[in-house]
Amino acid sequence: MKLKKIGIINSGGDCPGLNTVIDTIVTSLEADYKVLGFYKGFEGLLAKEYLELNSDFTNFFRFQGGTFLKTVNKGNFASKVGSGQIRQIPEEILTKTAKNYHDLGLEGLIVLGGDGTMEIVYQLQRYNLNIIGVPKSMDNDLPGTDFTFGFHTAVEIATEALDRLETVGQSHDRIMILEVMGRWAGWVSLFSGLAGGANIILIPEIDFSWNSITNFLEKRLSLGKKNTLIIAAEGSKLSGGEISSKSLGSKASESSLGGVGDQISQYLNGITHFEARSTNLGHIIRGGSPGSFDRLLSMPLGVHASKLMRARKFGNMVTYEQGKFSQLPIEECVGKLKLVEKTNFHVETGRALGVCFGD
Ligand code: F6P
Repeated sequence: MKLKKIGIINSGGDCPGLNTVIDTIVTSLEADYKVLGFYKGFEGLLAKEYLELNSDFTNFFRFQGGTFLKTVNKGNFASKVGSGQIRQIPEEILTKTAKNYHDLGLEGLIVLGGDGTMEIVYQLQRYNLNIIGVPKSMDNDLPGTDFTFGFHTAVEIATEALDRLETVGQSHDRIMILEVMGRWAGWVSLFSGLAGGANIILIPEIDFSWNSITNFLEKRLSLGKKNTLIIAAEGSKLSGGEISSKSLGSKASESSLGGVGDQISQYLNGITHFEARSTNLGHIIRGGSPGSFDRLLSMPLGVHASKLMRARKFGNMVTYEQGKFSQLPIEECVGKLKLVEKTNFHVETGRALGVCFGD
């Protein structure tokens, strides 16, 4: 008889690799643990809605995108709201969730998620829940880990999109602009911009100015380069301006960013000798199967989380730093984001190659 019972929860936006991590954990632990998968993030624990998992079932999904457990990034457990402010989850919600955890006889929880999810974990820990975090985010903005799963797949897709936009730009002598998600961090824009040969890379960490962009474009024109590829992170903004948003968020959800690509396109089309077109990749870079890097990251992250569970090293988030898998206390991974530093070597590489960062 299996005596120990644990739960798996994925929370926040979906991304490729969630099913891979879940399958790895179930496969690693099922000989000794009964593993419950809770539906729709922590809402599943609040409502006691779960599925008993076994590897015959999870293997089927392991390289599929999204999450078969479904997920939410708003509602009862919204821990980041508006423009990234931390929200205290109501006491009654946390208490009921903790009660359900104890009533179900759970020995521990493995929780897959990004900054918002780790904040939920942080708030729940006060109720004596044994939790291990696994870093997930296409934004790659969690501190303490070099990469989160979901990020490299997003970069692959955005890089391919740039390759495709490049041929349109070349054929029509146009400025092609690609907007990509990433929220407050510029990792997706920076990595795919460099890999996809973008001439201008805009990231939230470096404000841009119209002068800088138009001077750069004029210079390219004077050299006979009539097409230009621009990538803009959704969180990038004009110096002294506001981040473009589709919605401002509410008490229970974060704002929805987007529109900077169109803003740039509109501005450049107002200059008669430029012709610009903008494409927003939106959720395309978050959907579909994980690429090979993310599969190779997700599996050891799952193995390491399982090891921590067996060793009862709770209160930690699994990390991947300089090729090694380790862990950090959850409290060291919340309340801040890992942003691109101006001295980042990919930024410096871009500058050395003549990329304009808009500043
Ligand atoms: O955090 C992941 C992310 O994809 C961000 O890059 C983006 O701003 C946000 O989620 C979009 O959220 P939603 O799917 O709720 O529109």
